[in-house]
Amino acid sequence: MSWSPRLAARLLGCTSGQEIGVARGKPAHNGRHAPHPCPPLPALMSSDSGRLVVRPSEGLHGEVPIAGAKNSVLKLMAATVLAEGTHVLHNVPDLTDVTDMAELLSAMGLVVTRDGATLTIERPAEIVPEAPYELVERMRASIVVLGPLLAKVGEARVAVPGGDDFGHRPIDMHLASLESLGARFTSSHGFIQGRADQLHGTSVVLDFPSVGATENLLMAAVLAKGTTTIDNAAREPEIADLASMLNRMGAQVVGAGSSTIEIEGVAELTPVEHTVIPDRIEAATFLAVVGVAGGEVTLLGARADHMDMLIQKLGTMGMRISPTPEGIWAMSKGELRSTDISTLPYPGVATDYKPLLVAMLTVAEGIGIVTENIFGGRFRYISELVRMGADIRTEGHHAVVRGIPALSGAPVRASDIRAGAALVIAGIRAEGETLISGAGHLDRGYERFDEKLRDIGVDVTRLP
Ligand code: EPU
Repeated sequence: MSWSPRLAARLLGCTSGQEIGVARGKPAHNGRHAPHPCPPLPALMSSDSGRLVVRPSEGLHGEVPIAGAKNSVLKLMAATVLAEGTHVLHNVPDLTDVTDMAELLSAMGLVVTRDGATLTIERPAEIVPEAPYELVERMRASIVVLGPLLAKVGEARVAVPGGDDFGHRPIDMHLASLESLGARFTSSHGFIQGRADQLHGTSVVLDFPSVGATENLLMAAVLAKGTTTIDNAAREPEIADLASMLNRMGAQVVGAGSSTIEIEGVAELTPVEHTVIPDRIEAATFLAVVGVAGGEVTLLGARADHMDMLIQKLGTMGMRISPTPEGIWAMSKGELRSTDISTLPYPGVATDYKPLLVAMLTVAEGIGIVTENIFGGRFRYISELVRMGADIRTEGHHAVVRGIPALSGAPVRASDIRAGAALVIAGIRAEGETLISGAGHLDRGYERFDEKLRDIGVDVTRLP
């Protein structure tokens, strides 16, 4: 990714040349910090850069703090478009995806400042309702500004996201559901142009419980006139987190977290302070790490009630996992049994857990059949696991994984966030060294990943 020094300065709460207010000797906007010079920018220049070396590791122990959920905070940041004033988000993970969303908000005229795990977002009266291609292409989740922009500004110009390693990822449900509220779209030169003088509540039945379409619709419906009902809504905990922030902003949303969400539109919303829920996918990743390595680890702040199905699966595979007042306790002897896995919308086993589970199955006893039901693609990391000696066959959206005692370290490439995590998990059970390139993808979704791994005993080193 390319850092904008101006944005980085805002996020780091420091002064970058003469570019921001604090550099000219004004107090920082929240009045809490005197200006200080910026440290050098992180070396992560793109998701494809950066490498990790992983060596066999066992007997893990200690505690891992689980950060705020990436897939929640990105939408909460988009929701700030809905109300003028100063919003404060706590428990915000330090990820390149968060920086990218901040850059998008910045491009629209909002001011984003980071102070530790707290983001302050100032939403001025006038904003530019446009999401440029450069940012949407970098992060697909940018599409969630569409609903809030249409609801609050009445217009939006958003670049159409392209496909990725998961295959073709359409946005037809986002557009159709917003149209049913009264928005009108045209598309040209790779952009969608949307207009809506006044959105009107209606009943929408989604063809599939799409997370992004549910979020866009929810953020549009809160300011629509009348009542909107979303049937077959996505039920992910991140949707409930978004609804909880919207309700505290003054919205009237009932049923988020279930398949039917009812929204009574209101005329205006006000800014709030909100704490992001913990990242269940980061927690799942550390469970998988403990599963293959063996050991006893506590995931601080993790919520077992957001990961019931996965915890059941990992129990079947031989792990012991319990909720505790601090988070989740996990224990494994490093000897896993195979199981079959089918990805499903929440509360089913998430598609984001699948690469982690496939990596676990490569060293489990027996054969596991894995079925992907959410994305057409998302098997690319499998050829990398096969390069490490894994016995995996794919057929359409199924993979048959026959466990072997140990993999063999090799140079491999991460194609996305979770694929990168799967390769780290595999590297823990591979003889010799596993050199993972494209490790920058991990920084999009995991905060201080290699540091947290080292803290519990994983032998991992980051190379430029
Ligand atoms: N779909 C359509 N049309 C649409 C929208 C979705 O056909 O208009 C299809 C998709 O192609 C896919 C399925 O519906 O086959 C589900 O997609 P969904 O909209 O639920 O996914 P998303 O909102 O684009 C979020 C997460 C993903 C996670 C999926 C599924 C964020 C930023 N992303 O994506 O997380 O895999 O839900 O749970 O919230 C990740 O964190 O690495 C990640 C990719």
